[in-house]
Parts: sequence; structure tokens; C-alpha cells
Amino acid sequence: MSRSAHPAGPRYADVLPEGHYTAPPADLNALDPKVWAQTVGRGEDGAVRVGGVDVKALAEQFGTPAYVLDEADFRERARAWRGAFGQDADVFYAGKAFLSRAVVRWLYEEGLNLDVCSGGELTTALSGGMPAERIAFHGNNKSTEEITRAVESGVGRIVLDSFQEMVRVAHIASSLGKRQRVLIRVTVGVEAHTHEFIATAHEDQKFGIPLAGGQAAEAVRRALRLDGLELVGIHSHIGSQIFDMSGFEVAAHRVVGLLKDIRDEHSVELPEIDLGGGLGIAYTSDDDPREPHEIAKALTEIVGRECEAARLRTPRISVEPGRAIVGPTAFTLYEVGTVKPLDGLRTYVSVDGGMSDNIRTALYDADYSVALVSRSSDAEPLLVRVVGKHCESGDIVVRDAFLPADLAPGDLLAVPATGAYCRSMASNYNHVPRPPVVAVNDGEARVIVRRETEEDLLRLDVG
Ligand code: LLP
Repeated sequence: MSRSAHPAGPRYADVLPEGHYTAPPADLNALDPKVWAQTVGRGEDGAVRVGGVDVKALAEQFGTPAYVLDEADFRERARAWRGAFGQDADVFYAGKAFLSRAVVRWLYEEGLNLDVCSGGELTTALSGGMPAERIAFHGNNKSTEEITRAVESGVGRIVLDSFQEMVRVAHIASSLGKRQRVLIRVTVGVEAHTHEFIATAHEDQKFGIPLAGGQAAEAVRRALRLDGLELVGIHSHIGSQIFDMSGFEVAAHRVVGLLKDIRDEHSVELPEIDLGGGLGIAYTSDDDPREPHEIAKALTEIVGRECEAARLRTPRISVEPGRAIVGPTAFTLYEVGTVKPLDGLRTYVSVDGGMSDNIRTALYDADYSVALVSRSSDAEPLLVRVVGKHCESGDIVVRDAFLPADLAPGDLLAVPATGAYCRSMASNYNHVPRPPVVAVNDGEARVIVRRETEEDLLRLDVG
């Protein structure tokens, strides 16, 4: 997506390119519940509270930048997904969105399963107390060591991503005297309506085995012959930040088509179908995500209908939401440093983090919202660009936003919907230590992932 240069006088949004804010919001102090965690609100003094805790107190106690996560909101979203799919389906939270031992504990308590895609995520999941049986292990290039660890620890499912990996897993399982439950990840040829870097089910990409040309059918043939494997189902993940259910409809249709072919060829009805994750969330007020119960209803109906048409027993459905559970539960709290008006261009507001704690704006051209949270303000709206402190001009946190014109160094800003793919994709660019994750609940705040320190960085530098 290309953005034209802004002409002079950018206080008002009529100069913004199409598709972005066209007018300042009616009330700059308002916090749209679509993009903020549910316990977020302004107190009488104008400062924002989350989980009953004032953001100024959080900044004082934990420093900035910090990811602030609303535990009640997380649990409620997890529960909503679990409840929506019911006992005949499984919800695997996608740990890549954000994983810590506290989160693993909450997921376990709320009855969810966990999708991991590396040895590190597996270690965190097990260490956080998730029973191995409730873990699915993903990845397009799992190492022999990772596969061995997964099989030894007894993970419930390994999702096979290639012919070579299938042989590796079978061999490792057999040599450990085990039969590993596996799914085969297929690419169904659906290109989800999302940023091209995160669309995954079209065929020209690294994940999965294409249905096209009979490759997936051949993978099934081989998997059924390998002693170390118990093939239980087919997996498909069509992309991320998707709002439109039609991609899932096509995917389900094609996956069920494969199940039917398998039944016809092998007289085997595979008992599971995993439709992956990818459900979108609201980053700005313009986004309209679906509720878990609508998604569950749509997916269950699609699979049920397709199976009935193919005269198949309806398999157990799994889904793997990551962003849709954790994304809206957290915001990033920053302190304003420099405010730099560039005459006739725009005002740059620098915060004390940036692309090291949120790479999504630079990487995907992602849109975010932002609000002044340490106080309210009646000042007129000023069109700004919120940028980080890194040595790179692409270090943008929020490309176009309205903030009160009296914004000053020392004010606190919060960027909502940063629970997913921000801490988990954080880096140490410019040797900036990564921020902590602070969980708030019922008037209490606690660090669940501590702030990295410069000593942590030096410890890795062995001279
Ligand atoms: N299942 C599989 C097999 C996946 O590959 C993914 C995401 C998910 C589930 C969870 O997707 P979610 O529900 O969170 O959209 N870094 C990108 C997103 C990459 C997603 C990779 N796979 C971003 O920041 O938007």
C-alpha cells in the first residue's frame, strides 16, 4: 500500500490518504471499547485505569515502555472461545501471539489447549503446567531435537508440514517405542484477505502440503503406512487478521473433500479437522471483528454441512486463535519524549520505545490507535505521527493519529491492541532492552515477564 506525501497544513485529516482517518474523533478522551481491554476506562481525574490500577502508578512502579495486560479480559476472551465451541471441539491458543508461564496457567485453568511452534514455546508451555497431551506442535522446519523432545514429552499432536518431516517424526517415534498422533497441514489454495506476508494457504509459500496435484493425498497415503504415526486429521491455516468467513468456508469445503477422498480410498474416516487461527481484531475503530460465538457457529455449520453432503461423520473441530484472544487484552504504555512540529508537514511525537517493542507498523504497515492516558485534555486535535527512539526513519508506532495539541514531554500515551505479536516479536535493536509485561487484575499489578536490562544484554556478549 503506498501512501502519498501529506500536503502542508496537516492539522486536519482531510489531507490523509484514503482509507485512513478522515476526521478527528468527536471526543479525543473517549476510549473505544472495541480496541481497549474491557476494564480500561478514565477515572474522574481524567487518567486511565486498567484492572482498577491507574496508569500513572503503573508507569511509576514498572517504568515505561511496558505492556500492560488485563488478566480478566484475557480470561474472559479465552472462556468465550472455549464456551462458543463447546465440548465437541478444541481451542488451541496460538502461543506465537504471546506466551508466558502465567498465560499458560490461565489457559489451562480456562480449559484451552496450546499450539506451540518451537522448542522454546514447548518449554514454556510445559514449564507453565500445560499437560503435554493438550499441546499441538507446529512448524515448517522442526529440528530433530525439537521433534524428539515433543515426542518424548508426549505432546498430543504434531502437525506435519512436509514429506521429509513425516519420515523424521515416524522414525523418532518408532525408535522411542511410541506411536505419535499427527495431523497433516495442507494448503487449500485460499488466499485470505490480509497482508500478503501473513496469508498462508495459497500454494506458493513455505507452509503445508498442497492439496493441488494430489500431493496432500499422497502425504496421507504415506502417513497411513508409517508405523510410528497415528494420523488423526487434517490441518489448514489460511492466514491472519481475517474478518471475512468465506475463506474458511472454502478451506473447510476442500479439507472435507480430502477427508472424503481418504474415506473412499482407504476406508478410513479421520476423526479431526483443524481450521487454524487467523481471526481478526480491532486495531482501530474502523475494524469490525466477529464474536467467538458467531465464528464458532459459522465454522461448525460449514463443516457439518460439508460432511453431511459427503456422508462423513462430522470430525472433531479444532481452532487456533492467538491474536483474537490476547491481542485486545494489552496496551503498550509509553512516555512522551520529544514533540517535534515540522512546519507545514506534521508533528512527530517520540516515545521511549518503538519498533523494538512493536515491529508490526514497520513490517506490515499495520494501523494502531493511540490515546493520551495520564490525563484528559480539552485541547484541539493535532494530527501526529507517533514514532520510536530507534535509529531508523521507518521506526513508526502509529502512522497517523489525533492527539490533543497540548501534548507535552512526560505525558503517557497508550497504544491499545498490542497483546499479540508485539512482545513475542520484540527485538533488541539498538540494544534497547525489551519491556516487561505487567498483568493487572482487581486493583493489583504484577510483572509476568520482567523488563530486560542492559546487564541481560551484556551477559550474552561474552567478549
Ligand atoms: N495456527 C497457525 C498454524 C498459525 O500459523 C498461526 C499464526 C495461528 C494459528 C494464529 O494466528 P492468529 O489467530 O494469531 O492470527 N506476525 C503476524 C502474524 C503471523 C501469524 C503466524 N501464524 C502479525 O503480527 O500479524
